Amino acid sequence: MPQTLLALNWKMNKTPSEATAWANDLKASLQLGEAEVAIMAPAIDLQALSWFLKDTGVQIGGQDVSQHESGAYTGEISAGMLKDVGAKYAVVGHSERREYHAESSQIVAAKARAALNAGLIPIICVGEGLEVRERGEHVSYTLDQLRDSLAGITIASAEQLVIAYEPVWAIGTGKTATAADAEELAAAIRSALSGLLGEVGAGVQVLYGGSVKGGNIREICGQPNVNGALVGGASLEVQGVLDMVNALK
Ligand code: G3P
Repeated sequence: MPQTLLALNWKMNKTPSEATAWANDLKASLQLGEAEVAIMAPAIDLQALSWFLKDTGVQIGGQDVSQHESGAYTGEISAGMLKDVGAKYAVVGHSERREYHAESSQIVAAKARAALNAGLIPIICVGEGLEVRERGEHVSYTLDQLRDSLAGITIASAEQLVIAYEPVWAIGTGKTATAADAEELAAAIRSALSGLLGEVGAGVQVLYGGSVKGGNIREICGQPNVNGALVGGASLEVQGVLDMVNALK
């Protein structure tokens, strides 16, 4: 059974000063349980977080990564750069980047491969919008997105892979998918991964994201095929994170 991963996605929040203050507050109260905790912070915050969270067991990661190794790509951040500041993970294909930056699943796959090539673990985000859900096409849509986002990823590298199912209609809305909704897609994703990647695919961590908080995380992560959560809003306050860590113990 894969370890539970509590991944925190701050999105475009917290200056380096705020991030270090947050890290110090967390350190003062955090008692980790079995779940791994990882903070996907704005890139500008990662170096400081790496220093302030050293020896706490809390991991860090990027919220995006370039598909390029280096070169004339103004504003982009490479997987090697993330690795160098101590990142373990890189989120790729978040719905906000797919929407606001026109990131196709082909680009997401290239980003995931770049992350793997640099020794990072990509957290590949997939999930449907409300209209797709209302048409009852959420499973087929999400699996098509998954397959396209895994293009070129070999079985060997898949051991370092995380998938996050994030129904777009539940992100930032307070409308959490039910635990059964999360399990339906997590099970479908795991079955698809087994077909695509064999036994390795069956062991991939599958997270749920979309209005997760201390009050609902235990039920959602208690589902057979859900191995953790990717949390936005509830990760911004230290107490919210402590509540989720304690709920997972
Ligand atoms: O990446 C996680 C994020 O999209 C979920 O946001 O605020 O609904 O927890 P939130």
